[in-house]
Amino acid sequence: MLLKEILSKYPKDPEYLIEILLEYQTSKKNHYISPEDVSRISGHFDIPESQVCSVISFYTLLSMEPKGRYVVQICHDVPCFVNDATNIYEELVNVLGIKEGETTPDNLFTLEITECLGCCNEAPAMRVNNQVYTNLTPAKIEKLIKDLRGEIK
Ligand code: FES
Repeated sequence: MLLKEILSKYPKDPEYLIEILLEYQTSKKNHYISPEDVSRISGHFDIPESQVCSVISFYTLLSMEPKGRYVVQICHDVPCFVNDATNIYEELVNVLGIKEGETTPDNLFTLEITECLGCCNEAPAMRVNNQVYTNLTPAKIEKLIKDLRGEIK
């Protein structure tokens, strides 16, 4: 969706900045807010670009760096850690061929480590874009990544 369309859905009030940034970033193939986007958003709200940038840098879900089509975030907080999250991370490294903070050469996947996703009772957990997956096993990881790769063929 175009930035213009998203901006028109919300009141012209910087109070909606986070919602707008999240919706816009999610709608973009590379999941990031570019410097040009920052400039247009600051102009729309008549606020400094630095204010938009500080919101983006504060929220871990927002980014000013291009990412893969699927942003894979494995939780590594204690409940997930003690429930084999390290093994799940290693399976992701194995299946995707990248490490934390990297993007696959085909720009499909970015791998990140994140904090609690709010479903510790179903640890280990991870999020792919907006979808949370729980009770993970290496076999589930392999199937999920295979399915995601199949979606775009
Ligand atoms: Fe991983 Fe809460 S610690 S979901």
